[in-house]
Amino acid sequence: MNDDLQKRIRAALASPQNMGELAGADAVGTVGNADCGEMLRLWVKFKEQNGKKVIDRATFQSFGCETAIAVASLATELIRGKTAEEALALKTGELAGELGPLPPMKIHCAQLVEGALRSALEPQNAEPKPAGPANAPTLLDSFSKPKEGVKLTFLDEEKR
Ligand code: FES
Repeated sequence: MNDDLQKRIRAALASPQNMGELAGADAVGTVGNADCGEMLRLWVKFKEQNGKKVIDRATFQSFGCETAIAVASLATELIRGKTAEEALALKTGELAGELGPLPPMKIHCAQLVEGALRSALEPQNAEPKPAGPANAPTLLDSFSKPKEGVKLTFLDEEKR
């Protein structure tokens, strides 16, 4: 990875946005990458704006990978105010935002974020709506208690 990209990732990680669960979320998506073991969960909450249902807020949890966290931080800001369709139309590179082009070995990190977004926003992928903070499993809960109705999609199983 080149130094400029490392600097941009570190800058994004210096003040990561939208980390953690989102109480009262309308949609949740969880994806995993079987190759590197990374998992990422995205929560989305909508609001009505000018007669349209737009994303009010999105948050995420992830285990460890700096690039995935940086992309998720930028992407959750980027999709605010967009409809689900507009958010789903964003390409992997667009979600990485100001990080710029990622090297081939890191593209899957951005695809993890894209996959979580698809998992949350595409109706056929929807997980059960979280009932509230007390009942919303964290990403760690899902690992330790996997039978709580969480649908985990592994990216390499998806047909793209
Ligand atoms: Fe696999 Fe970043 S190294 S998601």
